[in-house]
Amino acid sequence: RKPVTINTLQNLFRKGEPITMMTAHDFPSAHVADHAGMDIILVGDSLAMVALGMEDTSEVLLEEMLLHCRSVARATKGAFTVGDLPMGSYEIAPEQALESAIRVIKEGRVKAIKLEGGKEMAPTISKITTAGIPVLAHIGLTPQRQNSLGGFRVQGKNTASALKLLEDAFAVQEAGAFGMIIEAVPAEVAALVTKKLSVPTIGIGAGNGCSGQVLVQVDMMGNFPPGRFLPKFVKQYGNIWAEAMRAMLEYKAEVKSRAYPAPEHTYPMPKEEFAEFER
Ligand code: KIV
Ligand code: NA
Repeated sequence: RKPVTINTLQNLFRKGEPITMMTAHDFPSAHVADHAGMDIILVGDSLAMVALGMEDTSEVLLEEMLLHCRSVARATKGAFTVGDLPMGSYEIAPEQALESAIRVIKEGRVKAIKLEGGKEMAPTISKITTAGIPVLAHIGLTPQRQNSLGGFRVQGKNTASALKLLEDAFAVQEAGAFGMIIEAVPAEVAALVTKKLSVPTIGIGAGNGCSGQVLVQVDMMGNFPPGRFLPKFVKQYGNIWAEAMRAMLEYKAEVKSRAYPAPEHTYPMPKEEFAEFER
């Protein structure tokens, strides 16, 4: 397929065709997303938890994001790639943000960056887009600010909060963002905000009225041990854990019983040669 560009995304938006977006954190997870024909692949800072085993996204470093962005970029031939700016790499000043964004493009090899925040991030978004780097904004629930939000709480649930979301959406659009993630917002609020905008919204926990959807791959694939907490908005489309466990246990049993490797997995040697060797 032809590689997805910013124009492709704008065309999908104009046609009213939902934009498909999926996170990836390494070469294999990007491969499957790209082969499936995702429009956008996001190297989210959720990799802190899903790939690096950290408690939350506040721990992941820009350097670590760069390594993972690069591995995702190598696997991605068709999808448009976006890399998250991790906490601490963009809040100090627009100049700092631009410097980090440039590293994500040059070293991470993705096509665009994402950062969290609304109106207060407008000058930063403007700085980065002016330098020719596409910015995807992220409003509503912004996980990097979980401590000041008091946890992972649904945003825009009352009139004042919904108005703030709308204000943020307009501000990031004005600042030049090519689109925005809207996370954990009542469906009717996200749908109305989407209607008022001229750039696409990508929802996660924001109902089907957004211009597209995104999910964290490890969550939707079910690639985690049973009993893990999942947000309400996650639909588990697969059970990779069960399949991986089945294969692992079968391998273990076959090694213990010497059923593996079977003759077809071994290299032959002419009988005479072996007889000679045996002597
Ligand atoms: O880090 C991430 O994976 C994200 C998506 C959930 C939007 O920001
Ligand atoms: Na993120």
